[in-house]
Amino acid sequence: MKKEPRQRIEELRKQISEHDYRYYILAQPSISDYEYDQLFNELERLEKESPQLITNDSPTQRTGSDLANEFNTIVHKIPMLSLSNTYSEEELFDFDRRVREMLPNTEKVDYVCELKIDGVSVSLNYSNGILNYAATRGDGTTGEEVTNNVKTIKSVPLKVRANSSKKNSILNLEVRGEIYMETEAFNKMNAERELEGEKTFANPRNSTAGTIKLLDSKIVAKRPLQIFTYYLFSETKELSLHIENLKLLSELGFRVNPNYKLCHNIEEVLDFCNYWEEKRDTLPYEIDGVVIKVNSLKQQKILGNIAKSPRWAVAFKFKAKQAVTKLNKITWQVGRTGALTPVAELESVFLAGSTISRATLHNIDEIKRKDIREGDTVIIEKGGDVIPKVVSVDINKRDRKSEPTGIPQKCPVCGSKLFQPEEEVAIYCENNFCPAQVKGRISHFASRGAMDIEGLGDALINLFVEMKLIKDYSDIYTLKNKRDELINIERLGEKSVDNLLNSIERSKARPFDRVLFALGIRFVGAGAAKKIADHFLSIDSLVNASQQGIEEIHEIGPSISQSIKRFFAEDNNRRLLDRLKRAGLQFQFERKQKDSNKLEGLSFVLTGTLSTMSREEAKEKIIANGGTVVSSVSKNTNFILAGESAGSKLDKAVKLGIKIITEDQFYKMI
Ligand code: IVH
Repeated sequence: MKKEPRQRIEELRKQISEHDYRYYILAQPSISDYEYDQLFNELERLEKESPQLITNDSPTQRTGSDLANEFNTIVHKIPMLSLSNTYSEEELFDFDRRVREMLPNTEKVDYVCELKIDGVSVSLNYSNGILNYAATRGDGTTGEEVTNNVKTIKSVPLKVRANSSKKNSILNLEVRGEIYMETEAFNKMNAERELEGEKTFANPRNSTAGTIKLLDSKIVAKRPLQIFTYYLFSETKELSLHIENLKLLSELGFRVNPNYKLCHNIEEVLDFCNYWEEKRDTLPYEIDGVVIKVNSLKQQKILGNIAKSPRWAVAFKFKAKQAVTKLNKITWQVGRTGALTPVAELESVFLAGSTISRATLHNIDEIKRKDIREGDTVIIEKGGDVIPKVVSVDINKRDRKSEPTGIPQKCPVCGSKLFQPEEEVAIYCENNFCPAQVKGRISHFASRGAMDIEGLGDALINLFVEMKLIKDYSDIYTLKNKRDELINIERLGEKSVDNLLNSIERSKARPFDRVLFALGIRFVGAGAAKKIADHFLSIDSLVNASQQGIEEIHEIGPSISQSIKRFFAEDNNRRLLDRLKRAGLQFQFERKQKDSNKLEGLSFVLTGTLSTMSREEAKEKIIANGGTVVSSVSKNTNFILAGESAGSKLDKAVKLGIKIITEDQFYKMI
């Protein structure tokens, strides 16, 4: 007799998740890929016929939908802490001493050592045994919901394995772990990307971090993500030892790294650290240290946390990995400001998970200090996710005929003259229209923290500039008039052109501070741009402000203010600005509805701790009533709003005879 679809569907789901478990967690498959596909296809077919029977935990729901992800904010049930680092034997012993000092004398302390996987941490929340949501760490208190993307990782159970009655008590739980990519899978993926002309990733960790935040889960499903879990929390079950939690995680169907060890004293911990520091290259994934955790959860509770890290755990970080290779050539890269950066072109060498063929040399002083020359045998180093650098030269291997490295005589890109401003180490290309500078400025403009134009990467920018489709960043907004021309470019299809044009349109909604940052004014980073935009609220007020007016903003000094004045004084930049305005970019903050004009024309300086509002709130109130807030006291200041323990600003105000008011008096003014 033919089974009810509901029954067969359930049976198939059970079988498939059992096979997933055997394949992805135990690495012991018991059927062939073909047989597995048969089961999967049958389930897909039945679900298609009866879509009302599809549930969230069905294995078919891993692949991702066509809808773009929305990353909602998740408040973590328990904060996701980070770890403090130790770098030496002494620091590790200090940690052990601090732990023991905080615990009653009689207590014995055991530690569990785990490998510190170099990936991205994630929190998995299960209710009733079913994956409820997955969230990134974020700032530790709140993270972003990335459930759809995490679901595509086959080693993340959609449902916990709770077969025996003992485990049924733990169906509501929070599990934490590290998402990562194996080195080989990463390299393969990168090689494929290179072939396709796509941007390659610097290392497995960056690639994992980028992947987990992709809008399209279908792409995530194709990336080789994996997980190791290392933390379990449940309100419904009494847990007492971390090592038991790790075992319980395995029983519940989670993937746990097998290389953990229970250590009875700090010497054993140190042995574990030394062992893995030496053996790290034998692992198929990257680790950057060892995590040491107090085994007893009761002791963990006594020890508690300081700021954002627990006192009961610490990371032992490995030293940066080094490699020896030959420096073939020193080339000079020209950035968007015209600054020339020396780059070491190396004989390719494998280091810490990727093949390195270039390293930064920072500047000419650095080259001279280390006496780095073309043809030298050099020691390079890579720490964390930083770009590799040349640490030193093996002088013994130097060719006697080699010569000290000098600075180039002209711009390597456009051949223009170079200049070195006084008090600066950097050398600059003086030609504002040098193709390298032009491309650099456009690339900065389109980048993530700036206008965030998805799809407009360096390769495309280079192509567009070379084809003379764009000559500065304002031209980006005219590309929509050249759609036909774009579609005819060999590498671009109709779909990718339309995607690009759409993301260009979308960028017009980027807020004023991002636009200000995107302009690429020297020294105006994202943080400074935000402060300046918050203060002036519109580009016109900024353009008209005096240098002194700009410096009134807290933490904005003369180098920034001068650079801003210089930028807007240039005709070419003013023209750019006009064109961007016409394109419809945001050159002012949406003014909040004004409460009144009672403070019109009055300037305030805030000082001391206010008792009824924060400084930010006070500032908002002043602006909402038409006033302005400046950071330093001058004879033009009208009022000082002073709170508790006001300092030097108050003294200066008294000297200048400026009116000092309290919060009560302030409230009466508005
Ligand atoms: S425990 C309070 N265990 O390292 C406990 N973290 O620097 C915090 N990590 O954010 C986490 N492997 O992303 C723990 N076996 C492991 C880990 C691990 C990698 C990462 C994790 C964490 C960071 C702390």
